[in-house]
Amino acid sequence: MTNPIINTIEQRSTTSLYDASRDISNAQVTELARLATLAPSAFNLQNWRLVAVRSADAKARLRAVAWDQPKITDAAVTYIVCGVIAEHSVMPDRLAPVVAAGIMPQEMVPGWTGAAKSLYFEQPQRARDEAVRSATFSAMTLVLAATSLGLGSTPMIGFDPQGVSREFGLAENEVPALLLAVGYATSENWPQKPRRPLSEVLEVV
Ligand SMILES: Cc1cc2nc3c(=O)[nH]c(=O)nc-3n(C[C@H](O)[C@H](O)[C@H](O)COP(=O)(O)O)c2cc1C
Repeated sequence: MTNPIINTIEQRSTTSLYDASRDISNAQVTELARLATLAPSAFNLQNWRLVAVRSADAKARLRAVAWDQPKITDAAVTYIVCGVIAEHSVMPDRLAPVVAAGIMPQEMVPGWTGAAKSLYFEQPQRARDEAVRSATFSAMTLVLAATSLGLGSTPMIGFDPQGVSREFGLAENEVPALLLAVGYATSENWPQKPRRPLSEVLEVV
């Protein structure tokens, strides 16, 4: 029996060439972002933010700080996927809806907040790593959602992070972890590339 999620994983490939004449709706741009926020994050920090670059002007500004990659102007949207430097003080706010939903008892909140403090407080490298981790999980969730809707996607590290932060007014604690273009692929794109043998990448102990 075929499993739709496994099919999506098997079928996904990076899009290089987009059909610039085909847009997606604003509702789809929003829905893909909503699905991205269903990704897991440490302590449910949800320390991410997405900037959906849609207008011709914004696309041109992004392309200028992203190695002039044509995908940015051809794709329907490019999300700037930001991770937010992890910070324990936001925990009570982040957990309040979880308590309100009856999932977590209020008494557990200080414990989770303390655990986050012990991990991130005065630990800049770990706090930044967490930002990149969370952003990456959300980006991959968005990629799979886009694939399942018949859309192409391109994760991109080819950009100047300072330039992106400056052009799009990112906050000091926001790390532009990657750019993620989404739109309709042309028929000339490469299929998914072969992977290294599993024996080289998997160790079962
Ligand atoms: C973190 C990351 C950064 C990437 N940066 C770029 C990029 O800047 N431009 C680009 O065209 N592709 C980029 N790619 C796409 C990779 O080249 C692609 O995933 C890889 O060649 C495997 O191909 P496949 O995804 O089709 O299997 C990036 C992928 C990842 C995961």
